[in-house]
Amino acid sequence: MRLDKYLAHATGLSRKEVKRVLHRKAIKVNGTIVRDASLKIVAADEVIFQEQVISAPQHRYLMLNKPQGYVCSNDDPTHPTIAGLLDTEIRASELNIAGRLDVDTTGLLLITTDGQWLHKITSPNHKQPKRYLVETADPIDPAAIKLFAKGIELKGEKHFTKPAVLEIIETHIAYLTLTEGKYHQVKRMFAAIGNKVLELHRDRIGSIVLDESLALGEYRALTEDELAKL
Ligand code: URA
Repeated sequence: MRLDKYLAHATGLSRKEVKRVLHRKAIKVNGTIVRDASLKIVAADEVIFQEQVISAPQHRYLMLNKPQGYVCSNDDPTHPTIAGLLDTEIRASELNIAGRLDVDTTGLLLITTDGQWLHKITSPNHKQPKRYLVETADPIDPAAIKLFAKGIELKGEKHFTKPAVLEIIETHIAYLTLTEGKYHQVKRMFAAIGNKVLELHRDRIGSIVLDESLALGEYRALTEDELAKL
């Protein structure tokens, strides 16, 4: 990792502040003053700032309960972003979001600074099932259970959807579990059977269940146990 990135991750300083610190000759790497921000730092290097060894930055792995009205991109001209809900130390680092949700969808997002981990858990080989609680405008036709299990055709898609599990809880409320993530997939699946999704909430990705104690907009670190199970 580049020295400037390493320092920003490990100290919480902004990139601008890191530049200043390097310019002031305040950083030593393996005993030598370094001003080159692009210097590659490896695990064995000793980086010192203000007489203290700066430890290698730890990756962050979080679950967040997404509120409505927030977008999962890093920059949006009209809506607040998920990054704005996180503390500044996390905002400064690079955010990766597993399985983005629409602006009006609520619920479980997995967020990490570890791009490789994200790639692993979102790769098609991993097929982490994602569970959604759906509220619809019209009563849910029980025939949809078989249709979704077989796979249905969505407007504009070449391939049928992968088998999905629909559990009807009440006339207008169901859980739908998917193993893929086509654009607006849940809404389009219900549109394909002539119904409309009014509310959509994700409560599960693979073995990770949204912590009920998290209010909308709150987040917490994933536990060792949760990380090991994914
Ligand atoms: N399917 C949708 O239609 N929207 C989401 O946000 C997630 C899945």
